Amino acid sequence: MDPLKPTRGARRDRDNRKSPRAPAEGGPARDTHSKPLANPLVSAANPRRQPRLPESKGEPVQNKAPAAERRSGALPAETLPLILEVAPSADYALIDSGNGEKLEQYGPYRIVRPEGQAIWTRALAERDWENVDAVFTGDTDEEGLGRWRFPKAALGETWPMRHDCIDYLGRFTSFRHVGVFPEQGPHWAFMEKQIRTAGRPVKVLNLFGYTGLASLVAARAGAEVTHVDASKKAIGWARENQEMARLADKPIRWICEDAMKFAEREARRGSQYDIVLFDPPAYGRGPKGEVWQLFSDLPRLTDLTRTILTPKPLSVVLTAYSIRASFFAIHTLMRDAFAGMGGRVESGELIIREQSAGRALSTSLFSRWVAQ
Ligand SMILES: C[S@@+](CC[C@H](N)C(=O)[O-])C[C@H]1O[C@@H](n2cnc3c(N)ncnc32)[C@H](O)[C@@H]1O
Repeated sequence: MDPLKPTRGARRDRDNRKSPRAPAEGGPARDTHSKPLANPLVSAANPRRQPRLPESKGEPVQNKAPAAERRSGALPAETLPLILEVAPSADYALIDSGNGEKLEQYGPYRIVRPEGQAIWTRALAERDWENVDAVFTGDTDEEGLGRWRFPKAALGETWPMRHDCIDYLGRFTSFRHVGVFPEQGPHWAFMEKQIRTAGRPVKVLNLFGYTGLASLVAARAGAEVTHVDASKKAIGWARENQEMARLADKPIRWICEDAMKFAEREARRGSQYDIVLFDPPAYGRGPKGEVWQLFSDLPRLTDLTRTILTPKPLSVVLTAYSIRASFFAIHTLMRDAFAGMGGRVESGELIIREQSAGRALSTSLFSRWVAQ
């Protein structure tokens, strides 16, 4: 089963508009937002709980793994909140957002896609939203480009794109994604700097690597890269991108495998990495039907990333898109709502500090307007 094939309600780019039947490809990940998520407490005891999925053919593959035990030692210091921001550039720009959609510039193309977080009103005029090259409609069951509308001229499936001087292909996928998640840019820059300043050979593991931009950035910076993704199609796209980027001579291992299985094997073998990136979907499938569920599997995989670090590791970077709203969404809404009144809008999350180990439990998001 191809993990690029999303399920109903899949939502990689923070959109909560309901999608129609799953298309054949296009979204990088499955998502369980339309289904109740596993109880994380129950799941912690059964980290690879295997639910039967509506469209699964046969039993999902069991991938039993022991629960991660709590590590001892002092907690790392913390920096909160840290907001990593992507500013408009010649490669990519979020031009406008609102009314449940976003208007973006990807290289030569202006694209409109659903955006569930954009609960505010558009800033630009209707004509700016109409003067576009592609609109994701998602309103057919057709595969591929059938789900896109091209108001000016029919476009091919791919087009040349650039990220920080790395050439790659933008791609109209059937599940509204375009082959890149530009918000990841700050992570890539951070990693690149670590690799360049390490002063020694650096090994990078990119789990759930999708079209490979992070792997290319790491390889260009001089790292030896292992890229893992469960989708053959995504691996194919990533390899194409490597060619496009003229980085074919760089050491990247492309591995089509279940991320958890791969990490477990690396731990058994004693393989080690200086940097681990992992950007798991809420729900996904390995090539042999292995089920990935963020809430039940993330603790185990996170623990494994620690196990496979070198004695002098540089970083482990986790991204999780399985949030239905961010405090930025209500923050933007509140600032729009109180425009012209002066004062200040403060936003963040409400957390409860636990007594046992002083860790924070996030309960909700907040935004408050304060007159002065
Ligand atoms: C959210 S995308 C990653 C995006 C990537 N970090 C980037 O910025 O381009 C998730 C990826 O996970 C892959 N995937 C889903 N389930 C998987 C699994 N069990 N093991 C490995 N990869 C999986 C999908 O094929 C998809 O390419």
